[in-house]
Amino acid sequence: MNSKKSIAIAAALGGVAGLALAIQVRAGGDKVAFPENYAAGILYGTVDRYDTKQYREQYVMPAAIEAVHKGQPIPSGTVITMVEYKAQLDAEGNPVKDANGHLVKGELNGYAVMEKRTGWGAEYPDNIRNGEWEYQSFTADKKVNDKANLNACFQCHKPHAGQDFVISFASLRGTASTQTAPPPSGPGVVSIASFRFGPGQVTVAAGRAIRSFPPFWPASTTLS
Ligand code: HEC
Repeated sequence: MNSKKSIAIAAALGGVAGLALAIQVRAGGDKVAFPENYAAGILYGTVDRYDTKQYREQYVMPAAIEAVHKGQPIPSGTVITMVEYKAQLDAEGNPVKDANGHLVKGELNGYAVMEKRTGWGAEYPDNIRNGEWEYQSFTADKKVNDKANLNACFQCHKPHAGQDFVISFASLRGTASTQTAPPPSGPGVVSIASFRFGPGQVTVAAGRAIRSFPPFWPASTTLS
């Protein structure tokens, strides 16, 4: 067999493997139902994404925060919901900032959800598996987003294995602002180290459980 042919066959096999993985990952995502009750959980962090002009809110159930605070693993059954909004833009197309310099919530884009359950993920090869987590993307009307590349969720979160694949783990633990590791730099590298996970001001409905970590909100913050 000439080398051109073998390269073509290798590429074809790679394509088949990639397709098989995409199907597998899609089936895994189907295990994740839309988290109807996400807002009854704790709003543990918000993210201003200047790069994508998005404002994001991260919710989790209290049991996960309690476990992380005790130094225990994130429990089976944990669902983390990241609600993604377009940031409001000014006439020039730049994100509007509130009095605290944060982006302002605009139209709802959709939901990124990750869920962890005992035994999940066992069918994935080691190079893709994210422990016992599965990922799903939902549109603004709470339907599964068929266009989402779930494989990319695994790939992007994989390097964070040391914190159970949760990139905003420091916010869960309440230590986000004390992270002092220097951000990596280089062409094409986007560091999340400079993103702030805590809002300067939060408006919540009366009775909503929220957690105020001192590093996020100044002592003078009043929740209304
Ligand atoms: C390009 C890299 C990248 C991809 C792809 C990606 N994520 Fe993330 N994800 C992040 C980053 C970075 C954060 C931290 C918050 C932020 O900066 O917006 C995050 C945060 C999250 C969170 C909040 C919990 C946490 O880990 O901090 C959820 C839930 C989440 N992503 C789900 C998904 C889902 C579902 C997909 C696939 C549809 C996905 N992600 C794909 C980079 C990625």
